[in-house]
Amino acid sequence: MSEALDQYINDLQTLAEDAKKAFESAKQKEDLEAHRVEFMGAKNGHLKRLQKGIGKVEKDEKRAAGQKFNEVKQAVEQSFQTAQDRLANLSASEQVGPRFDPTLPGTKRPIGRNHPLTQTVEELKRTMARLGFEVAHGPEIEDEWHNFDALNIPASHPARHPDENFYLANLTQKGHPLLWRSQTSTVQIRVMEKRTPPVRIISLGRVYRPDKPDATHFPMFHQIEGLMVDRGVTMAHLKTTLRLFATSLLGEDVHIRFRPSFFPFTEPSVEVDMSWQGGWLEMGGAGMVDPNVLKAVGYDPDEVSGFAFGLGVERICMRRHNVEDIRSFFENDVRFLHQF
Ligand code: DAH
Repeated sequence: MSEALDQYINDLQTLAEDAKKAFESAKQKEDLEAHRVEFMGAKNGHLKRLQKGIGKVEKDEKRAAGQKFNEVKQAVEQSFQTAQDRLANLSASEQVGPRFDPTLPGTKRPIGRNHPLTQTVEELKRTMARLGFEVAHGPEIEDEWHNFDALNIPASHPARHPDENFYLANLTQKGHPLLWRSQTSTVQIRVMEKRTPPVRIISLGRVYRPDKPDATHFPMFHQIEGLMVDRGVTMAHLKTTLRLFATSLLGEDVHIRFRPSFFPFTEPSVEVDMSWQGGWLEMGGAGMVDPNVLKAVGYDPDEVSGFAFGLGVERICMRRHNVEDIRSFFENDVRFLHQF
């Protein structure tokens, strides 16, 4: 055997051993891949380099050199395969390798949560959905037609006074003044203008009034509005709906009470109270939709009737969580918000 062949075979054997050691030391897939490229890479891998070395061997020894090369190539492939199988069988935590120390404290990520009012709103939606009420939306900037006129609130009514509302100083729509809506009853009108009866909706959202903030007042708050219009809707439907609403929200032993009242958009009108821990709570207003309102949206009051209600969301939320000051909802103090 010539010295050149002897050297060549030696090199091949060293390569096989090095490759085996490298593959065996790989602790994760990325390491093994790097070694694969180093030894078996099609362009510059060690195997490729030695394959080219056959050219330097004497002609009559080329066959022997080629045979040896093939043996070594197979051996390298075999040890690569073995290493690959070994890594595939490792559990996920073992694969991450020594850089991961599970005993170190992790990175703390502050996890947020829904605002208590959002939580209450979601719950009110779920409760009313079970009674077949669909959620409708309306804009927060309104015209006087939807906020007042269509709701049978005449121009002389004190609720329309500029001191009682946030009119937008220089903003008008087709010459008519705009204002931040003072009630969600606006959505009743918007829905009825677009649809024909039967209608069964609720609407939840912000309303605005220039009230001085104190424990029970804030210039922005939330209401839930309800409206049902169909043939033959009566006060009994209203009372049953509100009773089911109250019990599913506050518990089986909750009662509701109606007191006579007045709203321009309902006739008759009532104040709704719910019993709670031995007392009565005012929840908002309700009544049978006034025929003038039905006419304003093009419904025939001789054909259909309806009930409506409007309740304060903050009030419900404050009751449920024993919150004593409405302002705490809007101060963005996470020590308060994290309690819910
Ligand atoms: N919109 C009234 C308010 O803000 C509440 C209300 C009363 C809504 C009676 C209604 C209703 O739908 O029927 O004070």
